[in-house]
This record gives sequence, structure tokens and C-alpha cells, in this order.
Amino acid sequence: MGPISGRIRPVRVVSVGKQATGLYRRYLFTSPARLNGQQASPITLRCAQIFEQSKTTAGPGPLDNKKVRVQGHVRFLRKQKRFAFAHISDGSSLQSIQVVLTPEQATNLTQGAAVEISGIWQPCPPGKQQSHELQATEINIVGEADPATYPIQKKFHTPDFLRQLPHLRLRTPFNSLLSRLRSEFIYQATQEFRSHHNRNFVQVQPPLVTSSDCEGAGEVFTLKPRDAVTEAGETVDFFRSPKYLTVSSQLHLEAYAAELGNVWTLSPTFRAEKSDTPRHLSEFYMLEVEMSYLDSLESLTGFVETLIRNMTQRVYNTPVAQELFGFRETDDPTKDTIHADLEKRWKALMEGPSWPRITYSKAIDHLQDAVAAGQAKFEFSPSWTGGLQLEHEKFLVDTIGKGFPVFVTDYPKAVKPFYMAPSNTPSSENKETVACFDLLLPEICEVVGGSLREHRLSPLIQNMRDHGLLKLRDPTPDSSLRVDAKVTYPHLLANEELGSTQWYADLRRWGTVPHGGFGLGFDRFIGYLAGVSSLRDLVPFPRHFGRADC
Ligand code: 4AD
Ligand code: MG
Repeated sequence: MGPISGRIRPVRVVSVGKQATGLYRRYLFTSPARLNGQQASPITLRCAQIFEQSKTTAGPGPLDNKKVRVQGHVRFLRKQKRFAFAHISDGSSLQSIQVVLTPEQATNLTQGAAVEISGIWQPCPPGKQQSHELQATEINIVGEADPATYPIQKKFHTPDFLRQLPHLRLRTPFNSLLSRLRSEFIYQATQEFRSHHNRNFVQVQPPLVTSSDCEGAGEVFTLKPRDAVTEAGETVDFFRSPKYLTVSSQLHLEAYAAELGNVWTLSPTFRAEKSDTPRHLSEFYMLEVEMSYLDSLESLTGFVETLIRNMTQRVYNTPVAQELFGFRETDDPTKDTIHADLEKRWKALMEGPSWPRITYSKAIDHLQDAVAAGQAKFEFSPSWTGGLQLEHEKFLVDTIGKGFPVFVTDYPKAVKPFYMAPSNTPSSENKETVACFDLLLPEICEVVGGSLREHRLSPLIQNMRDHGLLKLRDPTPDSSLRVDAKVTYPHLLANEELGSTQWYADLRRWGTVPHGGFGLGFDRFIGYLAGVSSLRDLVPFPRHFGRADC
């Protein structure tokens, strides 16, 4: 678009609004030809671009009085006798563009319709809610919406109501903002991994279809074709053996890390958990990291702390975070459903003191002492074998973290999966622990879980044996399988085989190195920073027990 010259000469002047006081006059129905001189056709811009270029500066903005076109949905419509006002949003900004129309132009316009509107981007007199408005010159209704049936109205919709319409709630201002926030986090996470130059992180794409239950918690979804049973009644095993949707990409990341050194992924994860809580989904995203030549838990927790601080800081510096903080200032009643002081929450993550580390054993002592001193009451009495319940985690984060995150390390071996390495610190005879950690954030608690991996073949196979992960062969001497028994795998007994996890043991059999990693619950993390307490209101299409609507 070339430079625009020529003076603005309103062809007809109409005063509205505070006309009685004569405070300002609005110029309407200005001929585009006269207005624009050389500007033959409007430039199509996203709402965010228009607002960005219209920020208050000294003198007129670059778009002032120019002809622009917006494409979006009618978020709200107000028809008056002499004018109509339409708010157009296109998912690029929390703010919508206010369009001023004649009653004739607005005749067929309805809330929810998709429209393309061209007009003059005209500055408003001081004191108005918006700095500019679009004086419509051309209206094109691209996709009609029947207002009698369109479920999204101007009024406040409760989160419960919107959950029934996940496909349409995406069109509400706050949900639209959440989509942009998530996108920004992914971009900034990618930048952050690239910025660790000395570590040379590679982003990888592990499979979603797996052979094993990585976490061993039995929460896998089995994958079968719809026509798994033929008409003749035979069962067709599509992959020849049972396959599952992944519960964690960790095992495959370990294979990647063995070659690439340091890897990360952000991928969907599936768990058939029946937990009916706002913190659990059946399908969620996990950001997972695996690092080779890593042999101390301190380095791992140090890395997690830096990653989280830096990712938060990076997103904090972007417009979408500022939009989020500004949401509390808008008149959208949804603001009351989100956490009240988000910026403080972000700053605590970015700028707070180093996050405390406490071993599981000390955490249990702390909880038991609090009970004994009458400072705390728990539904589940804290015990070394009982693990940490949410109420225990909350108490730890409140009393030890004091508003900041807390790492709990070195959990009992008995409550953790087979792949974890023993703790670096020696454990007492009956209190065997593993080199692992959970990161607890204030209010939501566990957001990251990670560990050093058992990288030695013999102890790994012993762990698999202890967890019942080895397959037992038919012990009869004349069994055909006896032939295989001659082909032994190191450290297996004669009647044992590794089955579908042999590939994982192979990583230790040949060229193993100390390594470790973690998984960050991406939805929990974003939910925390967005101030949305239920993942069902954060994830656009939530899947949980009993629900996977569309
Ligand atoms: O603690 P988890 O189960 O750890 C693992 O799966 C490891 N294999 C990861 C690794 O080391 N690569 O899960 C990691 C995180 C949790 O801390 C939690 O934030 C999140 O994933 N998470 C869930 N988020 C939403 N819904 C669920 N059902 C979740 N289960 C775990
Ligand atoms: Mg965990």
C-alpha cells in the first residue's frame, strides 16, 4: 500500500452519544474515495495488527483514517435507531474491533455470523472506551448464524455451560486467549531448548503406539482396530501383540538420548485413570526431557528449575501474557473464574529464591511432626509406605515452599516404576529409595516428575523381575520354546524372557551411559499460569472418565 495523502473531509456529520453535552462529534458515512485519495482497496489485517498499529503515540497512527478490512465473527451486536454497533473478533486479540454501521448495513447482521467488513479506521475523541472504531463502508456476510439458535450470547456463560460446547467455547474471548497462550508457550519452549547451546537439545517425535506400560500403573488404553473380531469369530491382532496408547514417551526418549545426547518432546499422553479430579485428564500433553551423561539428581532438578523460570520469563515478555494480566481489568465476567493475582504468580516463579529440595523421608517426618504438634490434620495419616497424598503435598508446599515451588526427592523404591536408579545417598536397610523427584507448585502440587534411570543392565533386569515385567517360558523340557532357552539374554534366568521390553534392555546391553530426565505436565503448568483451576476448562477438548464429547 502506498502512502496516503489528501485531507479528510467528512461529507456528512452526525453526532451521537454525548451529543446533548456537545462533547464530541462522530464523523460518519465519509466517502472512501474522498477519504483515501490514492488508497484503491482496503488492506486486510488481523485485529491484533490493527490494535498494535494504533497504540497511542504522539500524532496520528499509521492506520488512522485509512481503509482496512477485518474478517471475523460478530461477537456482539447492538442495533439502535440511527446506528448499529458490531464487535468483530478474529481470535488474534482479546479486544474486538468496534464497527459503526448504518441500520441498513446492519440489517442482516447477527451475532455469531462470520463477516468481512471494510471501513475507515477512525480515531475516537478522547474519553471514549476505545481509541478507534471502524466506520463501515462495505459489509459481506460470509457465514450466517441464526441468533435464535446460536448458543454463545453476550451474557456470561458459566464454565459448566461452556463445557457442553467445547467446539464453540473456543470462540469466547478467554478461551481464544488460552489457545494463543498455549501456542506462545510451545514457541518459547522451543526457543528455550535451542538456547541451551552447550547442550544441543534435539526435539524428537516418539511414537504414540507403544508395547509397554512405562509407568507400570496399569492405566493404559489398549489399541485395537474396530473390526478386531472377524465374521468367522477370529480375533485379529493388528500389530501381532497387544499395543497401547503411550502413558509417557520416556522409554523411547531414552533410545533417542543414547544417540543424540539431550532430547525433548511435547507430545500427547493417554491414561485410563478414573480419577474424577480437576487435575487429571485421560489425554494430556507432557513435555519430556532426557539427558545423557547425567549422574546427579541435583543437576536434574537444577535444570528443571532453570527451564521453568526461563520459559515463564520468555512468555511473560510477550503480548499474550500482558493480555492475560489485563483480562482482570476487562468487563468480561469470566475474569472472576480465574486466579486473582496472576502476575504475582508468574513473578514468584521467575524471580523467587531458589526452590527448596526436601527428601521424601524428611517430608514424612515433617508431616508427622506437624500432626504430633497439632499443627495439621490429614485424612490420610502420613507414613513412609503410604506415599504422599494431595493434602500432604499441599501442606509441604505451604509450609516449606511458603508460596514457592518445592522439590521432593528420593521416594521409596517400592512405590516407583522399575526404571529408576537407586538414590545417590545410601538408604537404610528397609528404606530403599530411588533417585527421583516430584516438583510441587503452590496450590496445584505435582507438575513435574523425573528421575535418574537405572542404566546398568543387571539391576535393571532385577527391577523388571521384581515388578513382574519378565515373561516366564513354559518350563516343560520338550516345549518348542526350550530351543530358544539356549539363546540367552544376559542376566536372565533360563525360564525368563524380556518380550516386548527387550529393546529397552538392549539400550543397557550395548553402550549404556548414566542418564535421566523428567516429564512436565504441560496442561497443569499452563493451567497454573493461566489461573484456570480445572484442566477441563483449560484444554479445549478435554477427555476424562465418562467424557470425550467431540
Ligand atoms: O509423574 P509422571 O507420571 O511421570 C512420568 O510419566 C515420567 N515417565 C516422565 C518422565 O520422566 N519422562 O507424569 C509427569 C507429569 C506429572 O507430574 C503431572 O504433571 C502430569 O505429567 N500428569 C498429568 N496431567 C494431567 N492429567 C493426568 N492424568 C496426569 N498424569 C500425570
Ligand atoms: Mg508422578
